[in-house]
Amino acid sequence: LRLGILASGNGSNFTAIVQAIAAQKLPAIVTGVIYNNPGAGVAQRAREAGITSHLLNHRDYPDREAFDHDIADTLKNWGAEWVIMAGWMRQATNVLLQPFGTQVLNIHPSLLPAFPGIKAVERALHAGVKITGCTVHRVVLAVDSGPIIAQSAVPVWADDTVVTLHARIQQQEHDLYPPAILWAAVGNF
Ligand code: GRF
Repeated sequence: LRLGILASGNGSNFTAIVQAIAAQKLPAIVTGVIYNNPGAGVAQRAREAGITSHLLNHRDYPDREAFDHDIADTLKNWGAEWVIMAGWMRQATNVLLQPFGTQVLNIHPSLLPAFPGIKAVERALHAGVKITGCTVHRVVLAVDSGPIIAQSAVPVWADDTVVTLHARIQQQEHDLYPPAILWAAVGNF
């Protein structure tokens, strides 16, 4: 599987995927990572992993379609077949989705369809749910609503803060995303 990764921030899911490949748990290669925020931690992580990274700053584009056009171009130039969103904080348009069809995946820090969109961990905590988690799903135009590939449940403890709860969810994300990519590739869902 030839994976092109999109990340906006820290990039811990990027690293989890790279490590799963190195450990031969995921038969894939990362063709490169695109990030949209100058100084995003994922750029340093890519350097350390010896993987190409490319900054495309959405602030330089007139609209989301023009931005997605350059993203799709870059991914195609790398020969990427799968678009793996790992903490990608931009809403995709058809310009990006159409060329890759069902082969665009995202990870979201809640048990979808609960708490789609931004601040999912904070909203789950404030809602008082006792179980939350993370979801890997295929990406469609509507935010966080494509077919679900896999989920992990995470308990919410009484003394949790957004920081402690998000950290516990992220541990599950790192375990879930690499196998979920494989399941998406072999499974008919
Ligand atoms: C993850 O919690 C992901 O679910 C959310 O953003 C976070 C990205 O973390 N969409 P990282 O950049 O992979 O460390």
